[in-house]
Amino acid sequence: MNLLVTGGTGFIGSHTVVELLNNGDEVIIIDNLSNSKREVVDKIKEITKREAIFYEGDVRNKELLQSIFQKHKIDVVIHFAGYKAVGESVAKPLMYYDNNLISTLCLCEVMNEYKVKKMVFSSSATVYGNPKSLPIKEDFPLSTTNPYGETKLMIEKILKDLAHADKEWSIAILRYFNPIGAHESGLIGESPNGIPNNLMPYIVKVAIHELDHLNVFGNDYDTIDGTGVRDYIHVVDLAKGHLCAAKKVFNSHGVDAYNLGTGNGYSVLQMVKKFEEVNHVKVKYEITQRRAGDIAACYADPSYAYQQLGWKAEKTLDDMCRDSYHFIQKNN
Ligand code: NAD
Ligand code: UD1
Repeated sequence: MNLLVTGGTGFIGSHTVVELLNNGDEVIIIDNLSNSKREVVDKIKEITKREAIFYEGDVRNKELLQSIFQKHKIDVVIHFAGYKAVGESVAKPLMYYDNNLISTLCLCEVMNEYKVKKMVFSSSATVYGNPKSLPIKEDFPLSTTNPYGETKLMIEKILKDLAHADKEWSIAILRYFNPIGAHESGLIGESPNGIPNNLMPYIVKVAIHELDHLNVFGNDYDTIDGTGVRDYIHVVDLAKGHLCAAKKVFNSHGVDAYNLGTGNGYSVLQMVKKFEEVNHVKVKYEITQRRAGDIAACYADPSYAYQQLGWKAEKTLDDMCRDSYHFIQKNN
């Protein structure tokens, strides 16, 4: 297949491009490098010994998109491009609505124009809000509490309306749980700017002594040890889910949503302990206040993705902890 990958030099996008190239697919990337680096393109080549075509540009630039669709035959689009930091979205809502919504609208309009109507979209478990029960199934009620989550929910709605209006569209909405880890080569991974918001990027910075200690946001939740529980998934497993979803949309019509998670929940303290064990390092932590907006526990029922896409996560928590640490050691 020939695939256009928006946001293809980002964390999840780059791992997906690697899997696509390893699978023999042809890949075109568009990324404005607002949250990634050009060198990722070379790292992808180093890992796969194959080349993706790279366009540096913004998905909101319709002329650029049109020129890409004119030049290349594209079968499926995987749409990762967007902003993803919850706190920043609360502080700068317009920036989030503009980037996430306008880029998706521009992309869909140009896809329509060139009759490429097959898309895989990056949504998030955040669209489930505070779930009433666990594990979370795709038909649970949807709600959000911040502008970032709103953009994901709005885009899901836009894509559903589009697929209902025009039966030629085929769209897979992938709701990711908590992606962590890195490619086993240590060449690509996650490197957030500044002080990380998310758990694993913070843990690794404590492990290498760049940060003094981890603040554990609350130990009075109704969970195994009182700390928050999440469904952590290895980014390479997640990337492979996109290959299955791309195959699915290529061979079908309509729109559907799939949970991409492992189905297992781990607490913050379980994560700290596992990270220390696997990497033989110490991760200092202190218990602090709950983080506003956090929920106690969140983990997927991933059985629908297995049934419909033939995909399930295979890597272990040991793999996730080891690969996250390996990446930071190699790139620090
Ligand atoms: P990322 O920031 O590493 O990757 C996104 C990429 O998109 C970056 O390379 C950035 O430069 C690019 N980009 C942003 N806006 C663009 C635009 N207008 N035009 C062109 N390129 C643009 O993020 P990620 O973790 O790889 O996430 C990918 C997608 O998955 C995002 O849509 C994100 O919201 C979603 N998601 C991520 C997580 C997570 O925890 N990482 C969880 C759920 C959903
Ligand atoms: C994040 C996103 C959410 C997204 C989800 C899956 C935020 C605020 N939310 O939430 O939109 O859907 O990932 O990708 O970014 N923790 C600490 N100390 C820290 C950091 C985190 O104790 O320094 C705890 C949190 O309270 C939580 C767990 O670790 O219990 C995981 O946190 P995080 O990695 O931020 O993920 P989510 O809260 O699931």
